[in-house]
Amino acid sequence: TNNHLIAPSILAADFANLQRDIEMINNSEADWIHVDIMDGHFVPNISFGLPVVKAVKQHAKKPLDVHLMISDPDSYLQAFKDAGADHMTVHYETCTHLHRTIHAIKDLGCKAGVALNPHTPVALLDDIIEDVDIVLIMSVNPGFGGQQFINNTYKKIRELSNMADGRNPNLYIEIDGGVSLQNAAMLIEAGANVLVAGNFVFSAKDQLGTIKALKEI
Ligand code: DX5
Ligand code: ZN
Repeated sequence: TNNHLIAPSILAADFANLQRDIEMINNSEADWIHVDIMDGHFVPNISFGLPVVKAVKQHAKKPLDVHLMISDPDSYLQAFKDAGADHMTVHYETCTHLHRTIHAIKDLGCKAGVALNPHTPVALLDDIIEDVDIVLIMSVNPGFGGQQFINNTYKKIRELSNMADGRNPNLYIEIDGGVSLQNAAMLIEAGANVLVAGNFVFSAKDQLGTIKALKEI
């Protein structure tokens, strides 16, 4: 009876076989394709950039859920829109004028999200909660796939779920980092409705079956 979405993260895909891995997601029960952009500045790692997003878009049959782990995201919103982003999520920690940034994303015709680092309180969203389509709660420190899930995430999901209740009932509450079948049911029970999974999907022998298992919780 749950109605949650699954967003495999292509950060864990085989970049030399990206078309194959995108087609696997196309053929799966996944809902979104999670695309992690890292700039080596906001986070201590570099992933991939605009030309790769554009190439992914040419094969993707599901919305590109672009997670911008970059400083100064405002300067790149138009470029990521042009590359094929359907959703753009910026980090709270990178936006001095978050309200302006969220509305700039919406004006481009994309769903707009804000992401919170593990130490950034949900309460800081009190005056923006009605403007956003997505809140992405980081359940690891952003920058790398394959890290261990941080248990404080459950409390943050419950707080966000309570905040959104009545004020933004259609809010996507997205959890990113260390998601697996060990914690997925508890995340959904706490109020999450979008689960990102990178390594858990792509390191599995049966990737389609793993996505299906996450979807059918
Ligand atoms: C981490 C990224 C995540 C990452 C998740 O900075 O934002 O989306 O790909 O990977 P796993 O599921 O392996 O923790
Ligand atoms: Zn991500």
